[in-house]
Amino acid sequence: MVGNSGNLIVTGGSGFIGSNLVRWLLKNTEYLVHNLDALTYAGNNDSLSDCVENDRYNFWNVDITNAPDIERVFDEVRPDKIMHLAAESHVDRSIDNPAAFIKTNVIGTYVLLENARRHFDSLTGDEKSGFRFLHVSTDEVYGSLGPTGLFNESTPYSPHSPYSASKAASDHLARAWHDTYNLPVLVTNCSNNYGPYQFPEKLIPVTIINAIAGNRIPVYGQGENVRDWLHVLDHCDAMYRVLSSGTVGHTYNIGGNNELRNIDLVRLICEILDVERPRGDGLVYSSQIEFVVDRPGHDLRYAIDASKISSELDWEPAYSCREGIQQTIEWYLSNEDWWKSILDGKYRLERQGVKQIFTGKL
Ligand code: NAD
Ligand code: TYD
Repeated sequence: MVGNSGNLIVTGGSGFIGSNLVRWLLKNTEYLVHNLDALTYAGNNDSLSDCVENDRYNFWNVDITNAPDIERVFDEVRPDKIMHLAAESHVDRSIDNPAAFIKTNVIGTYVLLENARRHFDSLTGDEKSGFRFLHVSTDEVYGSLGPTGLFNESTPYSPHSPYSASKAASDHLARAWHDTYNLPVLVTNCSNNYGPYQFPEKLIPVTIINAIAGNRIPVYGQGENVRDWLHVLDHCDAMYRVLSSGTVGHTYNIGGNNELRNIDLVRLICEILDVERPRGDGLVYSSQIEFVVDRPGHDLRYAIDASKISSELDWEPAYSCREGIQQTIEWYLSNEDWWKSILDGKYRLERQGVKQIFTGKL
């Protein structure tokens, strides 16, 4: 099938961006959506409870590093399009346990590319010309900016964390499979996402949950680091535009044009919470902010020049920062069951990424 129907594989569809993307695709396209996910600590099928009954949704519990499993799924699904999101995604965890990042982000991407190549080589006619592999990546591969400047598609790669280095490696593999084997690959590099269903270890949910629990709100260093925040549904729209209308072999940067220092973002969240759920003791949530020891190798500033996707694919973010953050806070306040069941498990909001002890386990 070609057009906006047929079989579409999303890897990592049970994660934060993946679950929002699966829902977005079921709503906005006719595709049969196949979610391939290993359900690591970050994968959660509660995030798709409203999609499981949909006839156009299929879940495959597979690890992308397991070549025989991926081969079997590709043979059964015979995908028309692939959107590859599965990854280990948290910088602090990559400092504590880089091995998992190399395995999933590098080896897993390689396994997918090889299976996509094998499948692509078997296609003919419209199926072949319509086939696409979208590799979803991050702006962190470009490294760190000073106070001015923006990352564009030709900014040289300069990753600093095990996470961004493993994503950089996977981006290079994806482009090499295009250049060498003519696999119709597209790459997107996006800035920090926020929105519903984000695992509670990332800055925005960690701030909301610690605030209402009465815990200290940890801000690394002096909170001077700058990130360019984009609502996850704006990212879904952008990824789909690149998949369906982007030029094969090209890279598209995606960003919110929405730069904030961490401390200003944390204060904004506190101010919104002061209105939405006042503490009740007359104090404001910002009194819980605590500056804590900085992340090793902490990138100072990320900022995206998104003019290529804007001019070529007519994409602009729909959410304003205030509206998106407000809506996200409301979502976490009214979906306590979702995040409380995560916090009942292995992760309990503890600080990660400062141990730096070699465990001896490779
Ligand atoms: P996430 O950690 O929330 O979700 C990752 C998903 O991948 C989980 O469902 C997990 O179970 C699955 N997964 C992990 N290892 C796997 C394996 N070996 N096999 C199969 N499934 C596996 O991540 P996210 O924030 O949703 O990010 C998704 C993608 O988008 C990643 O590739 C990330 O690099 C990229 N990205 C994220 C952001 C962001 O701000 N979150 C920004 C730009 C790009
Ligand atoms: P994070 O959400 O981990 O995303 P990334 O590292 O991919 O940008 O962190 C966003 C920023 O917030 C980053 O500069 C680190 C900082 N941060 C804190 O200050 N406190 C926290 O508890 C966390 C998790 C992050």
